[in-house]
Amino acid sequence: MDTTCSHTARVFGQGVVIFLVIMSLAAGSDGRSITVGDSHGWSAGTNYTQWATKNSPFHINDTLVFKYPLPGNSTIAQSVYMLPNLWSYTTCQFRGAKLLGSAAQGAGEGLKVELNQSRPYYFASAEGNAYDCIAGLTKFIAVPSSTHLY
Ligand SMILES: *[C@@H]1O[C@H](CO)[C@@H](O)[C@H](O)[C@H]1NC(C)=O
Ligand SMILES: *[C@@H]1O[C@H](CO)[C@@H](O)[C@H](O)[C@H]1NC(C)=O
Ligand SMILES: *[C@@H]1O[C@H](CO)[C@@H](O)[C@H](O)[C@H]1NC(C)=O
Ligand SMILES: *[C@@H]1O[C@H](CO)[C@@H](O)[C@H](O)[C@H]1NC(C)=O
Repeated sequence: MDTTCSHTARVFGQGVVIFLVIMSLAAGSDGRSITVGDSHGWSAGTNYTQWATKNSPFHINDTLVFKYPLPGNSTIAQSVYMLPNLWSYTTCQFRGAKLLGSAAQGAGEGLKVELNQSRPYYFASAEGNAYDCIAGLTKFIAVPSSTHLY
């Protein structure tokens, strides 16, 4: 074992770590790009609670990407709504909700939503008469935090 060599490698390794920390602080405002549901995408009848917990905390300027196929014979149509508050989110009152992505907007690169405000974002799909939403499925809350802890 060449101790000089391993020492050099360790010092070099620390240098890389410090460099990466500085880079991530400098790039702090860029945010992450996060695909909702990972490879599963934004699907009907899906519980997103665990996904949202796993990907928390979200940060200001993170971008959520909702991917869902064009409506066809084999897929249930999807959409992305942002509900105004916890009450409308819980009770699935879509009156006053903002349509962010229609059924056609999730294909290809997906629908991008930037979390650029310091407020809770209440997301839900309204397809199938909000049946999923009422069942607690295909919906989640993202609360972007403004503090970055790396
Ligand atoms: C979010 O992005 C905007 C515009 O690029 C920037 O001015 C702001 O500092 C960023 N906010 C955070 C918390 O990174
Ligand atoms: C749906 O099914 C019909 C009849 O089987 C077919 O003609 C049509 O091309 C299909 N559409 C899509 C988008 O797959
Ligand atoms: C904030 O994000 C929303 C949703 O993606 C977008 O429509 C809007 O243009 C963004 N605003 C700024 C100032 O970047
Ligand atoms: C979704 O998953 C969470 C966490 O695993 C669980 O607590 C919750 O009851 C589930 N909701 C539904 C509607 O299945």
